[in-house]
Amino acid sequence: MAKTDKQHINKKGGGTMISNILIIGSGGREHALAWKLAQSPRIGKLYVAPGNGGTRDIAENIAIEATDARGLARFAEKNSINLTVVGPDDPLAFGVVDVFQSHGLRIFGPTRVAAQIEASKAFAKRLMRDSDIPTAPFRIFRKHESALEYVRKHGAPIVVKASGLALGKGAYPCKTLAKAEKALAEIMLERAYNQAGNEVIVEEFLNGQEVSIHALCDGKTSILLPTAQDHKPIFDGDKGKNTGGMGTIAPVPWVTDQTLREVNEQIVRPTLQALTKKGKPFTGCLYPGLKMTDEGPKVLEYNARFGDPETQSYMRLLKTDLLDVLDACVDGKLADLAVEWNSGFAVCVVLASGGYPGKYKKEIPISGITEAEKIPGVVVFHAGTMCSDQLRTSGGRVLGVTAIGKTLQKALDRAYEAVRQIKFKDMQYRKDIGAKAIAMGF
Ligand code: AMP
Ligand code: GLY
Repeated sequence: MAKTDKQHINKKGGGTMISNILIIGSGGREHALAWKLAQSPRIGKLYVAPGNGGTRDIAENIAIEATDARGLARFAEKNSINLTVVGPDDPLAFGVVDVFQSHGLRIFGPTRVAAQIEASKAFAKRLMRDSDIPTAPFRIFRKHESALEYVRKHGAPIVVKASGLALGKGAYPCKTLAKAEKALAEIMLERAYNQAGNEVIVEEFLNGQEVSIHALCDGKTSILLPTAQDHKPIFDGDKGKNTGGMGTIAPVPWVTDQTLREVNEQIVRPTLQALTKKGKPFTGCLYPGLKMTDEGPKVLEYNARFGDPETQSYMRLLKTDLLDVLDACVDGKLADLAVEWNSGFAVCVVLASGGYPGKYKKEIPISGITEAEKIPGVVVFHAGTMCSDQLRTSGGRVLGVTAIGKTLQKALDRAYEAVRQIKFKDMQYRKDIGAKAIAMGF
Protein backbone atom coordinates (compact mmCIF):
# COMPACT_ATOMS: atom_id res chain seq x y z
CA MET A 1 0.00 0.00 0.00
CA ALA A 2 1.32 3.47 -0.85
CA LYS A 3 2.20 5.59 2.18
CA THR A 4 -0.42 8.21 1.29
CA ASP A 5 -3.16 5.54 1.22
CA LYS A 6 -2.39 4.59 4.79
CA GLN A 7 -3.38 7.81 6.50
CA HIS A 8 -6.43 7.61 8.75
CA ILE A 9 -7.32 9.62 11.78
CA ASN A 10 -7.39 7.33 14.77
CA LYS A 11 -7.39 9.41 17.92
CA LYS A 12 -8.77 6.82 20.29
CA GLY A 13 -6.97 3.53 19.75
CA GLY A 14 -4.15 1.58 18.11
CA GLY A 15 -5.52 -1.79 16.98
CA THR A 16 -4.66 -2.71 13.41
CA MET A 17 -4.92 0.83 12.14
CA ILE A 18 -2.17 2.52 10.19
CA SER A 19 -0.72 5.29 12.35
CA ASN A 20 0.91 8.61 11.61
CA ILE A 21 3.56 9.19 14.24
CA LEU A 22 5.32 12.23 15.62
CA ILE A 23 8.50 11.75 17.66
CA ILE A 24 9.61 14.71 19.78
CA GLY A 25 13.36 15.20 20.18
CA SER A 26 16.62 15.28 18.27
CA GLY A 27 19.01 12.77 19.82
CA GLY A 28 20.25 9.24 19.24
CA ARG A 29 17.30 7.93 21.25
CA GLU A 30 14.87 9.58 18.85
CA HIS A 31 16.73 8.30 15.78
CA ALA A 32 16.64 4.78 17.25
CA LEU A 33 12.90 5.03 18.02
CA ALA A 34 12.25 6.34 14.49
CA TRP A 35 14.39 3.54 12.99
CA LYS A 36 12.35 0.91 14.82
CA LEU A 37 8.96 2.53 14.18
CA ALA A 38 9.78 2.84 10.47
CA GLN A 39 9.85 -0.98 10.38
CA SER A 40 6.29 -1.31 11.66
CA PRO A 41 3.82 -2.71 9.14
CA ARG A 42 1.34 -0.19 10.54
CA ILE A 43 3.43 2.93 10.07
CA GLY A 44 1.92 5.76 8.05
CA LYS A 45 3.72 9.08 7.97
CA LEU A 46 6.63 9.42 10.39
CA TYR A 47 7.74 12.84 11.63
CA VAL A 48 10.48 13.90 14.03
CA ALA A 49 10.53 17.37 15.65
CA PRO A 50 13.08 18.79 15.32
CA GLY A 51 15.06 15.64 14.40
CA ASN A 52 18.67 15.46 13.20
CA GLY A 53 20.82 14.63 10.20
CA GLY A 54 19.98 10.92 10.55
CA THR A 55 16.22 11.07 11.14
CA ARG A 56 15.79 13.06 7.91
CA ASP A 57 16.64 9.90 5.95
CA ILE A 58 13.83 7.80 7.44
CA ALA A 59 11.28 10.40 8.54
CA GLU A 60 10.32 13.99 7.86
CA ASN A 61 12.05 16.46 10.15
CA ILE A 62 9.76 19.23 11.37
CA ALA A 63 11.27 22.53 12.48
CA ILE A 64 9.41 22.82 15.78
CA GLU A 65 11.39 22.85 19.02
CA ALA A 66 10.83 19.94 21.42
CA THR A 67 9.68 22.33 24.14
CA ASP A 68 7.06 24.14 22.00
CA ALA A 69 4.13 22.04 23.26
CA ARG A 70 1.42 24.17 21.65
CA GLY A 71 3.20 24.29 18.29
CA LEU A 72 3.63 20.51 18.38
CA ALA A 73 -0.03 19.92 19.30
CA ARG A 74 -1.13 22.20 16.43
CA PHE A 75 1.10 20.22 14.08
CA ALA A 76 -0.31 16.92 15.37
CA GLU A 77 -3.91 18.06 14.82
CA LYS A 78 -3.23 19.45 11.36
CA ASN A 79 -1.35 16.36 10.20
CA SER A 80 -3.67 13.67 11.60
CA ILE A 81 -1.05 12.33 13.99
CA ASN A 82 -2.37 9.22 15.74
CA LEU A 83 0.41 8.90 18.30
CA THR A 84 3.14 11.23 19.56
CA VAL A 85 6.19 9.86 21.37
CA VAL A 86 8.15 12.13 23.70
CA GLY A 87 11.90 11.49 23.82
CA PRO A 88 13.57 14.08 26.12
CA ASP A 89 12.89 15.14 29.68
CA ASP A 90 12.21 18.86 29.37
CA PRO A 91 9.04 18.70 27.21
CA LEU A 92 7.63 16.29 29.82
CA ALA A 93 8.57 18.60 32.67
CA PHE A 94 6.90 21.51 30.83
CA GLY A 95 3.68 19.48 30.44
CA VAL A 96 3.64 18.52 26.75
CA VAL A 97 1.54 15.44 27.61
CA ASP A 98 -1.06 17.56 29.40
CA VAL A 99 -1.30 19.94 26.42
CA PHE A 100 -1.76 17.06 23.96
CA GLN A 101 -4.30 15.31 26.17
CA SER A 102 -6.31 18.52 26.55
CA HIS A 103 -6.62 18.50 22.74
CA GLY A 104 -7.72 14.82 22.74
CA LEU A 105 -4.41 13.75 21.15
CA ARG A 106 -2.76 10.42 21.99
CA ILE A 107 0.76 10.77 23.41
CA PHE A 108 3.30 8.43 25.02
CA GLY A 109 4.78 9.86 28.21
CA PRO A 110 3.85 10.93 31.75
CA THR A 111 1.90 14.07 32.66
CA ARG A 112 3.76 17.06 34.10
CA VAL A 113 3.03 16.06 37.69
CA ALA A 114 4.10 12.43 37.15
CA ALA A 115 7.27 13.61 35.36
CA GLN A 116 8.28 15.40 38.58
CA ILE A 117 9.83 12.07 39.56
CA GLU A 118 12.64 13.11 37.19
CA ALA A 119 12.32 16.90 37.08
CA SER A 120 12.69 17.27 40.86
CA LYS A 121 15.25 15.08 42.57
CA ALA A 122 13.99 16.54 45.86
CA PHE A 123 10.47 15.22 45.09
CA ALA A 124 11.91 11.84 44.09
CA LYS A 125 14.05 11.53 47.24
CA ARG A 126 11.12 12.39 49.51
CA LEU A 127 8.93 9.86 47.69
CA MET A 128 11.58 7.18 48.18
CA ARG A 129 12.00 8.04 51.85
CA ASP A 130 8.22 7.95 52.44
CA SER A 131 7.80 4.63 50.60
CA ASP A 132 10.88 2.83 51.95
CA ILE A 133 12.45 2.55 48.51
CA PRO A 134 16.21 1.90 48.83
CA THR A 135 18.28 5.01 48.04
CA ALA A 136 21.28 6.88 49.50
CA PRO A 137 20.56 8.78 52.76
CA PHE A 138 20.26 12.48 51.91
CA ARG A 139 19.59 16.07 52.94
CA ILE A 140 17.96 18.81 50.87
CA PHE A 141 19.22 22.42 50.97
CA ARG A 142 18.06 25.76 49.59
CA LYS A 143 20.80 27.89 51.18
CA HIS A 144 24.44 27.66 50.16
CA GLU A 145 25.71 28.33 53.70
CA SER A 146 23.72 25.47 55.22
CA ALA A 147 24.74 23.06 52.46
CA LEU A 148 28.39 24.06 52.87
CA GLU A 149 28.25 23.63 56.63
CA TYR A 150 26.70 20.16 56.25
CA VAL A 151 29.23 19.06 53.63
CA ARG A 152 32.13 20.28 55.80
CA LYS A 153 30.75 18.44 58.79
CA HIS A 154 30.10 15.25 56.84
CA GLY A 155 33.32 15.16 54.78
CA ALA A 156 34.10 13.29 51.54
CA PRO A 157 33.31 11.14 49.66
CA ILE A 158 29.92 12.75 49.20
CA VAL A 159 27.54 13.52 46.33
CA VAL A 160 26.13 16.94 45.48
CA LYS A 161 23.24 17.28 43.01
CA ALA A 162 21.14 20.04 41.52
CA SER A 163 17.52 19.03 42.09
CA GLY A 164 16.24 20.09 38.66
CA LEU A 165 17.03 19.05 35.08
CA ALA A 166 20.64 19.65 34.03
CA LEU A 167 21.28 17.58 30.86
CA GLY A 168 22.72 14.75 32.96
CA LYS A 169 25.51 17.04 34.18
CA GLY A 170 24.10 18.26 37.53
CA ALA A 171 25.30 15.40 39.74
CA TYR A 172 28.77 15.66 41.30
CA PRO A 173 30.11 12.54 43.01
CA CYS A 174 32.96 14.11 45.04
CA LYS A 175 35.95 12.18 46.33
CA THR A 176 37.33 15.21 48.17
CA LEU A 177 35.84 17.98 50.29
CA ALA A 178 37.35 20.60 47.95
CA LYS A 179 35.43 19.09 45.02
CA ALA A 180 32.18 19.09 47.03
CA GLU A 181 32.69 22.75 47.97
CA LYS A 182 33.33 23.60 44.31
CA ALA A 183 30.19 21.70 43.25
CA LEU A 184 28.08 23.64 45.74
CA ALA A 185 29.53 26.92 44.49
CA GLU A 186 28.90 26.01 40.85
CA ILE A 187 25.31 24.99 41.45
CA MET A 188 24.21 27.43 44.17
CA LEU A 189 26.36 30.54 43.65
CA GLU A 190 27.40 30.53 39.99
CA ARG A 191 23.97 29.08 39.09
CA ALA A 192 25.47 26.79 36.44
CA TYR A 193 22.04 25.16 35.96
CA ASN A 194 19.87 28.22 36.67
CA GLN A 195 16.68 27.32 38.62
CA ALA A 196 17.60 23.63 38.52
CA GLY A 197 19.95 24.57 41.37
CA ASN A 198 17.32 26.22 43.60
CA GLU A 199 17.35 23.05 45.67
CA VAL A 200 20.41 20.88 46.19
CA ILE A 201 20.58 17.27 47.33
CA VAL A 202 23.60 16.19 49.35
CA GLU A 203 23.75 12.43 49.70
CA GLU A 204 25.90 9.53 50.72
CA PHE A 205 28.39 8.25 48.15
CA LEU A 206 27.38 4.75 47.03
CA ASN A 207 29.84 2.18 45.73
CA GLY A 208 28.98 -0.43 43.13
CA GLN A 209 28.19 -0.86 39.46
CA GLU A 210 25.42 1.10 37.81
CA VAL A 211 22.48 -0.49 36.05
CA SER A 212 19.68 1.17 34.10
CA ILE A 213 16.19 -0.24 34.62
CA HIS A 214 13.40 0.63 32.20
CA ALA A 215 9.75 -0.13 32.88
CA LEU A 216 6.97 0.42 30.38
CA CYS A 217 3.90 1.61 32.24
CA ASP A 218 0.28 2.05 31.20
CA GLY A 219 -0.93 3.49 34.51
CA LYS A 220 -1.94 0.02 35.84
CA THR A 221 0.51 -2.56 34.50
CA SER A 222 4.29 -2.33 34.11
CA ILE A 223 6.72 -4.47 32.11
CA LEU A 224 10.49 -4.43 32.58
CA LEU A 225 12.80 -4.07 29.59
CA PRO A 226 16.13 -5.95 29.71
CA THR A 227 18.77 -4.35 31.94
CA ALA A 228 21.25 -1.92 30.42
CA GLN A 229 24.46 -0.28 31.61
CA ASP A 230 25.39 3.26 30.69
CA HIS A 231 28.85 4.79 31.04
CA LYS A 232 28.30 8.32 32.30
CA PRO A 233 31.75 9.88 32.85
CA ILE A 234 33.52 11.23 29.79
CA PHE A 235 36.79 9.27 30.13
CA ASP A 236 37.77 5.58 30.29
CA GLY A 237 37.78 4.04 33.76
CA ASP A 238 34.82 6.26 34.75
CA LYS A 239 37.08 9.31 35.04
CA GLY A 240 36.19 12.94 34.38
CA LYS A 241 32.91 14.83 34.34
CA ASN A 242 29.52 13.22 33.93
CA THR A 243 27.93 13.36 30.49
CA GLY A 244 24.51 12.44 29.14
CA GLY A 245 25.96 8.93 28.64
CA MET A 246 28.91 7.71 26.56
CA GLY A 247 27.82 4.17 25.71
CA THR A 248 25.66 1.22 26.73
CA ILE A 249 25.44 -2.52 26.81
CA ALA A 250 22.21 -4.53 27.02
CA PRO A 251 21.41 -6.82 28.66
CA VAL A 252 23.83 -6.61 31.62
CA PRO A 253 24.97 -10.26 31.77
CA TRP A 254 25.65 -10.46 35.51
CA VAL A 255 22.24 -9.18 36.65
CA THR A 256 20.23 -12.29 37.45
CA ASP A 257 16.49 -12.79 36.93
CA GLN A 258 16.19 -13.02 40.72
CA THR A 259 17.80 -9.58 41.15
CA LEU A 260 15.53 -8.17 38.49
CA ARG A 261 12.48 -9.56 40.29
CA GLU A 262 13.70 -7.90 43.51
CA VAL A 263 14.19 -4.60 41.68
CA ASN A 264 10.64 -4.90 40.37
CA GLU A 265 9.17 -5.67 43.81
CA GLN A 266 11.28 -3.29 45.91
CA ILE A 267 11.69 -0.38 43.53
CA VAL A 268 9.57 -0.25 40.36
CA ARG A 269 6.19 -1.32 41.76
CA PRO A 270 6.38 0.70 45.00
CA THR A 271 7.40 3.78 42.97
CA LEU A 272 4.44 3.43 40.61
CA GLN A 273 2.12 2.76 43.57
CA ALA A 274 3.41 5.80 45.43
CA LEU A 275 2.85 8.00 42.36
CA THR A 276 -0.69 6.65 41.93
CA LYS A 277 -1.40 7.25 45.63
CA LYS A 278 -0.27 10.86 45.22
CA GLY A 279 -2.71 11.24 42.29
CA LYS A 280 0.11 11.18 39.74
CA PRO A 281 -0.30 7.82 37.94
CA PHE A 282 2.58 7.17 35.56
CA THR A 283 2.21 6.29 31.88
CA GLY A 284 5.23 5.97 29.61
CA CYS A 285 8.71 4.71 30.45
CA LEU A 286 9.99 4.88 34.02
CA TYR A 287 13.76 4.55 34.08
CA PRO A 288 15.37 4.27 37.51
CA GLY A 289 19.16 4.47 37.52
CA LEU A 290 20.50 2.05 40.13
CA LYS A 291 23.73 1.41 42.03
CA MET A 292 24.21 -2.27 42.82
CA THR A 293 25.67 -1.89 46.33
CA ASP A 294 26.73 -4.58 48.81
CA GLU A 295 23.41 -3.91 50.55
CA GLY A 296 21.46 -4.48 47.33
CA PRO A 297 20.18 -2.24 44.53
CA LYS A 298 19.66 1.43 45.44
CA VAL A 299 18.08 4.17 43.35
CA LEU A 300 20.41 6.97 42.20
CA GLU A 301 17.72 8.83 40.32
CA TYR A 302 14.56 8.34 38.31
CA ASN A 303 14.00 9.33 34.73
CA ALA A 304 10.52 9.66 33.26
CA ARG A 305 11.50 8.64 29.72
CA PHE A 306 13.61 6.26 27.69
CA GLY A 307 17.32 6.49 28.43
CA ASP A 308 19.81 7.70 25.87
CA PRO A 309 22.01 5.86 24.83
CA GLU A 310 20.18 2.86 26.41
CA THR A 311 17.36 3.11 23.85
CA GLN A 312 19.87 2.87 21.02
CA SER A 313 20.81 -0.59 22.31
CA TYR A 314 17.22 -1.56 23.15
CA MET A 315 15.88 -0.85 19.68
CA ARG A 316 18.47 -3.23 18.24
CA LEU A 317 17.13 -6.05 20.45
CA LEU A 318 13.36 -5.45 20.44
CA LYS A 319 11.50 -8.07 18.42
CA THR A 320 7.91 -6.89 18.96
CA ASP A 321 6.58 -4.04 16.83
CA LEU A 322 7.41 -0.87 18.80
CA LEU A 323 4.16 0.70 17.63
CA ASP A 324 2.19 -2.12 19.30
CA VAL A 325 4.17 -1.57 22.50
CA LEU A 326 3.63 2.20 22.60
CA ASP A 327 -0.08 1.86 21.69
CA ALA A 328 -0.56 -0.68 24.51
CA CYS A 329 0.98 1.77 27.01
CA VAL A 330 -1.14 4.70 25.89
CA ASP A 331 -4.35 2.63 25.75
CA GLY A 332 -3.86 0.88 29.12
CA LYS A 333 -3.54 -2.53 27.42
CA LEU A 334 -0.03 -3.61 28.43
CA ALA A 335 -1.41 -6.64 30.28
CA ASP A 336 -2.57 -8.04 26.90
CA LEU A 337 0.82 -7.71 25.21
CA ALA A 338 3.83 -10.08 25.24
CA VAL A 339 6.90 -7.96 24.51
CA GLU A 340 9.58 -10.09 22.88
CA TRP A 341 13.33 -9.53 22.65
CA ASN A 342 15.98 -11.05 20.40
CA SER A 343 18.66 -13.09 22.11
CA GLY A 344 22.27 -11.90 22.25
CA PHE A 345 23.63 -8.46 23.10
CA ALA A 346 23.46 -4.95 21.77
CA VAL A 347 25.99 -2.22 22.49
CA CYS A 348 26.28 1.46 21.70
CA VAL A 349 29.49 3.51 21.59
CA VAL A 350 28.90 7.25 21.59
CA LEU A 351 31.16 9.43 19.45
CA ALA A 352 31.33 12.91 20.97
CA SER A 353 32.74 16.30 20.01
CA GLY A 354 36.16 17.23 21.44
CA GLY A 355 35.62 19.25 24.63
CA TYR A 356 32.20 17.71 25.47
CA PRO A 357 30.69 17.82 28.16
CA GLY A 358 32.25 21.29 28.28
CA LYS A 359 32.54 23.68 25.33
CA TYR A 360 32.98 22.17 21.87
CA LYS A 361 33.07 23.24 18.22
CA LYS A 362 30.20 22.57 15.81
CA GLU A 363 29.76 22.14 12.06
CA ILE A 364 32.72 19.79 11.68
CA PRO A 365 32.41 17.47 8.63
CA ILE A 366 31.76 13.79 9.43
CA SER A 367 32.83 10.88 7.22
CA GLY A 368 32.80 7.09 7.21
CA ILE A 369 29.25 6.22 8.32
CA THR A 370 28.48 4.26 5.13
CA GLU A 371 31.65 2.20 5.60
CA ALA A 372 30.83 1.64 9.29
CA GLU A 373 27.36 0.33 8.46
CA LYS A 374 28.83 -2.25 6.03
CA ILE A 375 30.09 -4.16 9.07
CA PRO A 376 27.57 -6.92 9.92
CA GLY A 377 25.23 -6.09 12.79
CA VAL A 378 26.12 -2.37 12.85
CA VAL A 379 23.69 0.55 12.72
CA VAL A 380 24.84 4.13 13.34
CA PHE A 381 22.31 6.41 15.00
CA HIS A 382 22.69 10.17 14.77
CA ALA A 383 22.45 12.60 17.68
CA GLY A 384 24.21 15.97 17.21
CA THR A 385 24.36 15.96 13.43
CA MET A 386 23.00 18.28 10.77
CA CYS A 387 22.97 18.12 7.02
CA SER A 388 23.82 21.27 5.05
CA ASP A 389 26.23 20.84 2.14
CA GLN A 390 27.31 17.62 3.84
CA LEU A 391 26.88 15.84 7.19
CA ARG A 392 28.33 17.93 10.01
CA THR A 393 28.43 17.91 13.80
CA SER A 394 25.86 20.04 15.65
CA GLY A 395 26.05 18.84 19.26
CA GLY A 396 28.10 17.26 22.04
CA ARG A 397 27.09 13.67 21.51
CA VAL A 398 27.32 13.27 17.75
CA LEU A 399 26.73 9.61 16.82
CA GLY A 400 25.80 6.33 18.52
CA VAL A 401 27.53 3.38 16.89
CA THR A 402 25.43 0.32 17.73
CA ALA A 403 26.12 -3.34 17.08
CA ILE A 404 24.46 -6.62 17.93
CA GLY A 405 26.20 -9.94 18.49
CA LYS A 406 25.60 -13.40 19.92
CA THR A 407 28.07 -12.56 22.68
CA LEU A 408 28.86 -9.24 24.33
CA GLN A 409 32.43 -9.45 23.02
CA LYS A 410 31.23 -9.98 19.44
CA ALA A 411 28.90 -6.98 19.66
CA LEU A 412 31.72 -4.83 21.09
CA ASP A 413 34.22 -5.97 18.43
CA ARG A 414 31.80 -5.02 15.68
CA ALA A 415 30.97 -1.66 17.25
CA TYR A 416 34.64 -0.67 17.71
CA GLU A 417 35.52 -1.85 14.20
CA ALA A 418 32.75 0.45 12.95
CA VAL A 419 34.00 3.31 15.15
CA ARG A 420 37.38 3.09 13.40
CA GLN A 421 35.72 3.85 10.06
CA ILE A 422 34.20 7.12 11.28
CA LYS A 423 36.08 10.39 11.41
CA PHE A 424 35.51 13.96 12.44
CA LYS A 425 38.04 16.41 13.86
CA ASP A 426 38.59 16.08 17.64
CA MET A 427 36.20 13.09 17.88
CA GLN A 428 36.34 11.44 21.30
CA TYR A 429 34.83 8.23 22.61
CA ARG A 430 35.28 5.73 25.42
CA LYS A 431 37.31 2.66 24.56
CA ASP A 432 36.05 0.67 27.54
CA ILE A 433 32.32 0.31 26.94
CA GLY A 434 31.29 -3.09 28.36
CA ALA A 435 34.79 -3.67 29.76
CA LYS A 436 33.55 -4.27 33.33
CA ALA A 437 31.29 -7.14 32.23
CA ILE A 438 34.05 -8.61 30.04
CA ALA A 439 36.49 -8.42 32.99
CA MET A 440 33.94 -10.38 35.06
CA GLY A 441 34.22 -13.20 32.51
CA PHE A 442 31.15 -12.56 30.35
P1 AMP B 1 22.10 11.15 38.70
O1 AMP B 1 21.85 12.30 37.77
O2 AMP B 1 21.53 11.35 40.04
O3 AMP B 1 21.78 9.82 38.10
O4 AMP B 1 23.67 11.06 38.84
C1 AMP B 1 24.50 10.98 37.71
C2 AMP B 1 25.62 10.04 38.01
O5 AMP B 1 26.33 10.46 39.18
C3 AMP B 1 25.17 8.62 38.30
O6 AMP B 1 24.98 7.90 37.14
C4 AMP B 1 26.35 8.13 39.13
O7 AMP B 1 27.42 7.76 38.29
C5 AMP B 1 26.76 9.33 39.92
N1 AMP B 1 26.09 9.32 41.23
C6 AMP B 1 24.89 9.87 41.53
N2 AMP B 1 24.55 9.65 42.81
C7 AMP B 1 25.55 8.95 43.35
C8 AMP B 1 25.79 8.40 44.66
N3 AMP B 1 24.93 8.59 45.67
N4 AMP B 1 26.93 7.70 44.85
C9 AMP B 1 27.83 7.54 43.86
N5 AMP B 1 27.66 8.03 42.61
C10 AMP B 1 26.54 8.73 42.34
N1 GLY C 1 21.43 7.28 30.06
C1 GLY C 1 21.36 8.55 30.63
C2 GLY C 1 20.08 9.24 30.47
O1 GLY C 1 19.31 8.95 29.56
O2 GLY C 1 19.78 10.11 31.26
